[in-house]
Amino acid sequence: MERDIFLIGAGQTQFGERWNASLRNLMEEAITAALDDAPCTSLDVDIVVVSNMLAERVNSQAHLGALAASILPHHPPALRVESACASGAVALHTACSLLESGRAQNVLVVGVEKMTDTPSDEIAAALMGAADAEKDAPSGITFPGLFGLIAERYMHEYGLTREELSYVSTRHHERALKNPYAQFRKSVTSDQVSASPLVADPIRLLDCSPITDGAAACLLSTSCESSLKISASQLTSDTTSIADRTSITSFPATKDAAERAFEEATIQRSDVSVIELHDCFSIAALLSLEDLGFAEPGQGIELYKNPPADLQINGSGGLKACGHPVGATGIKQLIEVGRQLKQQKEQWGLAHNFGGAGVTCGVHILEHSIA
Ligand code: COA
Repeated sequence: MERDIFLIGAGQTQFGERWNASLRNLMEEAITAALDDAPCTSLDVDIVVVSNMLAERVNSQAHLGALAASILPHHPPALRVESACASGAVALHTACSLLESGRAQNVLVVGVEKMTDTPSDEIAAALMGAADAEKDAPSGITFPGLFGLIAERYMHEYGLTREELSYVSTRHHERALKNPYAQFRKSVTSDQVSASPLVADPIRLLDCSPITDGAAACLLSTSCESSLKISASQLTSDTTSIADRTSITSFPATKDAAERAFEEATIQRSDVSVIELHDCFSIAALLSLEDLGFAEPGQGIELYKNPPADLQINGSGGLKACGHPVGATGIKQLIEVGRQLKQQKEQWGLAHNFGGAGVTCGVHILEHSIA
C-alpha cells in the first residue's frame, strides 16, 4: 500500500428479510453504526463509495451514490460501483485508491442490496447479469446451474462425494449460530443438506447462499489510526463466460489476487488466522480455499471435515448462513475479519470476494496490531 490505511469504523444491519426497510433505511442503519464506531464525525467524511448490483432493476432506484451522501449532513461527493457479487471488494479497492492518491483522507464505503421484495425467479434472472449475456444466458442457465456444472466437474476430477460436500454448509450454519446479524441462525446436519430440494444437480437448496436484504459500512482513513490496517488490496479479472476457460474447477482470478495480496502484505499463508471467503455455493468454498492456496487442488474439503485449530474459515457463517445481500457482502467480509481478529487477538486476516463465476475477484488483507 502507498499509505497506511486504517479501518476506523464498521457497522452492518441485520441480514435477512427486511421488508420494512428501504434501500435508504438499510444504508442509514449501517452508516450510523459505522460512524458511531469511528473516532470522527460524519462531517469528516470526504467521499462516499457505494457498492450495489441490482437497485435499478429490482428497486427502481439508480443514483445510489447521491442517495447515500444525502444521509450525511454535508452531502459529500459520492460514487457507486457495480461489479456483481464483487461490488463490495471493488468499492473497498476504489476507496483505498482514493486514499492512496491523497485525494481523500476519510472514505465511507457502504454496500447495500434489497432483494427479498422481488420473486426469486426475477432475482435469478437479474443475477445472470453477472454472467455473459451472449455466451451463457441464452442457454437459460442460472447461477445455481453454473455452479452445478462446476460441482459436477469437480466431483468427476477429484472424487468428492455428495455427502462430503454437505459438510461445507453444515459448518457455515454452525458458525452463524454465534452471529447476531446472520440470516439463518439454525444448525443443519449434513444429512439435511444432502436431502434438501434439488436446485441444479448436484446443487441443493442448502448448498446455496440465500436471497438477502442488508447493508454494511466501514470508514477507511489515512488521518485517524486504529488497531486495524489494510495491508493489501488487490483486484483481478477473468473471462465473463466459463465457456472461455480451460478449467472450471479453479478460478485464476482468485489465484492471481491472492498471490498479489500476499506479496503486497509481505506475509505467508501460514500467518493468516481468519478468512472470510466467497461461498456463494458450497462448491465455491472449496475452489476458493484451493485457489487462495490454503489447500491443494481437490483437498479443500479436508478443512471442512477436520477444521484446523489455527485457521478460522467463515466465522460469520459465510454467504451461506450469514446471507448474501450481493452489494454488501464484500464490505461485511472485511469488517467481520476485523471483528474476529480483535476478538481472537490474532494479527492477520483475509477477505475474499468474487463476482460472477470467479470473474472479478478482490482480496484484502487486514493486519491487527496486537502489541
Ligand atoms: N439456505 C437455507 N434456507 C433457504 C435458502 C438457502 N439458500 N433459500 C431459501 N431458504 C428457505 C427459506 O427460508 C424458506 O424457509 P421457510 O419455508 O421455513 O420460510 C424456504 O427455504 C423456501 O424459501 P423460498 O424463498 O421459497 O426459496 P426459493 O426456492 O425461492 O429460493 C434458492 C431458494 C436456493 C433458489 C435461492 O435462495 C437462490 O436462488 N439462491 C442463490 C442466490 C444466488 O444465485 N446468488 C448469487 C450467487 S453468485
